[in-house]
Amino acid sequence: MKSTTKEKLYQTLLPQIQELVKDEPDLIANLANIVAVLKQAFGFFWVGFYIVKGNELVLGPFQGTIACTRISFGKGVCGTAWKERRTVIVPDVEQFHGHIACSSESKSEIVVPLFESGEVVGVLDIDSDRLNEFDAIDAKYLGKITEIMPLFLSAVALRTSSLLPENSEPIGNYE
Ligand code: SME
Repeated sequence: MKSTTKEKLYQTLLPQIQELVKDEPDLIANLANIVAVLKQAFGFFWVGFYIVKGNELVLGPFQGTIACTRISFGKGVCGTAWKERRTVIVPDVEQFHGHIACSSESKSEIVVPLFESGEVVGVLDIDSDRLNEFDAIDAKYLGKITEIMPLFLSAVALRTSSLLPENSEPIGNYE
Protein backbone atom coordinates (compact mmCIF):
# COMPACT_ATOMS: atom_id res chain seq x y z
CA MET A 1 0.00 0.00 0.00
CA LYS A 2 1.32 3.46 -0.92
CA SER A 3 2.20 5.75 2.01
CA THR A 4 -0.38 8.36 1.05
CA THR A 5 -3.12 5.73 0.69
CA LYS A 6 -2.16 4.25 4.03
CA GLU A 7 -2.16 7.62 5.78
CA LYS A 8 -5.59 8.49 4.32
CA LEU A 9 -6.97 5.16 5.48
CA TYR A 10 -5.69 5.73 9.03
CA GLN A 11 -7.17 9.27 8.95
CA THR A 12 -10.55 7.82 7.97
CA LEU A 13 -10.38 5.06 10.56
CA LEU A 14 -9.39 7.17 13.56
CA PRO A 15 -12.73 8.99 14.01
CA GLN A 16 -14.57 5.76 13.25
CA ILE A 17 -12.72 3.98 16.04
CA GLN A 18 -13.34 6.89 18.41
CA GLU A 19 -17.05 6.69 17.60
CA LEU A 20 -17.08 2.92 18.00
CA VAL A 21 -15.69 2.94 21.54
CA LYS A 22 -16.91 6.22 22.99
CA ASP A 23 -20.14 4.99 24.58
CA GLU A 24 -18.94 1.51 25.44
CA PRO A 25 -17.14 1.05 28.78
CA ASP A 26 -16.42 -2.66 28.32
CA LEU A 27 -12.72 -3.23 27.68
CA ILE A 28 -12.96 -6.57 25.86
CA ALA A 29 -15.70 -5.32 23.56
CA ASN A 30 -13.69 -2.26 22.60
CA LEU A 31 -10.39 -4.05 22.09
CA ALA A 32 -12.17 -6.71 20.03
CA ASN A 33 -13.75 -4.13 17.75
CA ILE A 34 -10.50 -2.22 17.31
CA VAL A 35 -8.62 -5.32 16.15
CA ALA A 36 -11.51 -6.11 13.80
CA VAL A 37 -11.34 -2.62 12.27
CA LEU A 38 -7.58 -2.86 11.70
CA LYS A 39 -7.74 -6.39 10.32
CA GLN A 40 -10.59 -5.57 7.94
CA ALA A 41 -9.19 -2.25 6.76
CA PHE A 42 -5.60 -3.35 6.14
CA GLY A 43 -5.83 -7.14 5.88
CA PHE A 44 -2.92 -7.53 8.27
CA PHE A 45 -1.90 -11.13 8.97
CA TRP A 46 -2.38 -10.84 12.75
CA VAL A 47 -3.70 -7.99 14.92
CA GLY A 48 -4.13 -8.25 18.67
CA PHE A 49 -3.69 -6.88 22.14
CA TYR A 50 -1.66 -8.21 25.03
CA ILE A 51 -2.51 -6.93 28.51
CA VAL A 52 0.01 -6.54 31.36
CA LYS A 53 -0.72 -8.85 34.28
CA GLY A 54 2.01 -8.98 36.89
CA ASN A 55 5.31 -9.56 35.12
CA GLU A 56 3.74 -10.93 31.95
CA LEU A 57 1.76 -9.85 28.93
CA VAL A 58 -1.34 -12.00 28.54
CA LEU A 59 -3.11 -12.46 25.21
CA GLY A 60 -6.23 -10.33 24.75
CA PRO A 61 -8.63 -9.89 21.84
CA PHE A 62 -7.02 -10.67 18.50
CA GLN A 63 -7.74 -11.63 14.91
CA GLY A 64 -5.49 -14.09 13.13
CA THR A 65 -3.84 -17.41 13.81
CA ILE A 66 -3.44 -18.95 17.27
CA ALA A 67 -0.88 -17.01 19.29
CA CYS A 68 1.25 -17.53 22.38
CA THR A 69 -0.74 -16.61 25.47
CA ARG A 70 1.96 -15.23 27.80
CA ILE A 71 5.07 -13.14 27.14
CA SER A 72 7.51 -12.17 29.89
CA PHE A 73 8.77 -8.65 30.53
CA GLY A 74 11.57 -7.88 28.08
CA LYS A 75 10.98 -10.98 25.93
CA GLY A 76 10.21 -10.94 22.22
CA VAL A 77 9.15 -7.84 20.35
CA CYS A 78 6.16 -7.32 22.65
CA GLY A 79 8.13 -7.64 25.87
CA THR A 80 10.78 -5.30 24.43
CA ALA A 81 8.20 -2.62 23.60
CA TRP A 82 6.92 -2.94 27.18
CA LYS A 83 10.39 -2.82 28.77
CA GLU A 84 11.67 0.03 26.60
CA ARG A 85 8.32 1.89 26.71
CA ARG A 86 8.43 2.58 22.99
CA THR A 87 7.02 1.48 19.67
CA VAL A 88 9.17 -1.22 18.09
CA ILE A 89 9.18 -1.74 14.31
CA VAL A 90 10.73 -4.97 13.04
CA PRO A 91 11.20 -5.00 9.24
CA ASP A 92 12.31 -8.65 9.24
CA VAL A 93 11.45 -10.79 12.26
CA GLU A 94 14.30 -13.20 11.52
CA GLN A 95 16.74 -10.39 12.21
CA PHE A 96 15.24 -9.56 15.62
CA HIS A 97 17.11 -11.43 18.34
CA GLY A 98 14.59 -13.12 20.64
CA HIS A 99 11.59 -12.69 18.36
CA ILE A 100 8.81 -15.05 19.46
CA ALA A 101 7.46 -16.80 16.36
CA CYS A 102 3.78 -17.58 16.79
CA SER A 103 3.47 -18.30 13.06
CA SER A 104 6.11 -18.96 10.43
CA GLU A 105 4.06 -16.76 8.09
CA SER A 106 4.79 -13.64 10.09
CA LYS A 107 7.56 -11.67 8.37
CA SER A 108 7.49 -8.18 9.88
CA GLU A 109 5.93 -6.67 12.98
CA ILE A 110 5.05 -3.51 14.88
CA VAL A 111 4.33 -3.32 18.60
CA VAL A 112 2.88 -0.17 20.20
CA PRO A 113 2.69 0.16 24.00
CA LEU A 114 -0.52 1.30 25.72
CA PHE A 115 0.04 3.78 28.54
CA GLU A 116 -2.18 4.52 31.50
CA SER A 117 -1.02 7.06 34.09
CA GLY A 118 2.52 6.74 32.78
CA GLU A 119 2.59 2.94 33.05
CA VAL A 120 2.55 0.42 30.22
CA VAL A 121 -0.66 -1.57 30.70
CA GLY A 122 -0.59 -3.51 27.44
CA VAL A 123 0.57 -3.54 23.85
CA LEU A 124 -0.99 -3.53 20.40
CA ASP A 125 0.82 -6.08 18.24
CA ILE A 126 0.47 -6.30 14.45
CA ASP A 127 2.16 -8.88 12.24
CA SER A 128 2.43 -8.87 8.47
CA ASP A 129 3.13 -11.77 6.15
CA ARG A 130 5.27 -9.38 4.08
CA LEU A 131 8.73 -8.08 4.90
CA ASN A 132 9.15 -4.41 5.76
CA GLU A 133 5.41 -3.68 6.10
CA PHE A 134 5.53 -1.04 8.83
CA ASP A 135 6.98 2.46 8.95
CA ALA A 136 6.68 5.80 10.73
CA ILE A 137 3.14 6.33 9.41
CA ASP A 138 1.93 3.13 11.09
CA ALA A 139 3.76 4.11 14.28
CA LYS A 140 2.16 7.57 14.24
CA TYR A 141 -1.45 6.47 13.66
CA LEU A 142 -1.37 3.28 15.71
CA GLY A 143 0.03 5.48 18.49
CA LYS A 144 -3.01 7.74 18.11
CA ILE A 145 -5.30 4.72 18.24
CA THR A 146 -3.67 3.51 21.44
CA GLU A 147 -4.14 6.99 22.92
CA ILE A 148 -7.91 6.43 22.69
CA MET A 149 -7.40 3.51 25.08
CA PRO A 150 -7.03 5.33 28.40
CA LEU A 151 -10.71 6.26 28.16
CA PHE A 152 -11.54 2.69 29.01
CA LEU A 153 -8.23 1.19 30.12
CA SER A 154 -8.19 2.90 33.51
CA ALA A 155 -10.45 0.18 34.84
CA VAL A 156 -8.05 -2.54 33.81
CA ALA A 157 -4.99 -0.67 35.06
CA LEU A 158 -6.43 -0.63 38.54
CA ARG A 159 -7.00 -4.36 38.38
CA THR A 160 -3.60 -5.45 37.09
CA SER A 161 -1.08 -6.54 39.64
CA SER A 162 1.51 -4.10 38.32
CA LEU A 163 -0.35 -1.54 40.39
CA LEU A 164 -0.90 -3.85 43.36
CA PRO A 165 1.57 -4.72 46.15
CA GLU A 166 4.37 -7.01 45.01
CA ASN A 167 3.20 -10.20 46.69
CA SER A 168 -0.45 -10.02 45.71
CA GLU A 169 -1.85 -12.64 43.36
CA PRO A 170 -2.36 -11.56 39.75
CA ILE A 171 -6.03 -10.97 39.08
CA GLY A 172 -7.26 -13.15 36.24
CA ASN A 173 -10.27 -11.15 35.27
CA TYR A 174 -9.83 -7.84 33.49
CA GLU A 175 -13.32 -7.10 32.26
N1 SME B 1 6.10 -11.96 17.76
C1 SME B 1 5.71 -11.51 19.07
C2 SME B 1 4.84 -12.53 19.77
C3 SME B 1 3.38 -12.36 19.56
S1 SME B 1 2.85 -12.87 18.07
O1 SME B 1 3.52 -12.21 17.00
C4 SME B 1 1.22 -12.80 17.91
C5 SME B 1 6.93 -11.17 19.90
O2 SME B 1 8.05 -11.47 19.49
O3 SME B 1 6.76 -10.62 20.98
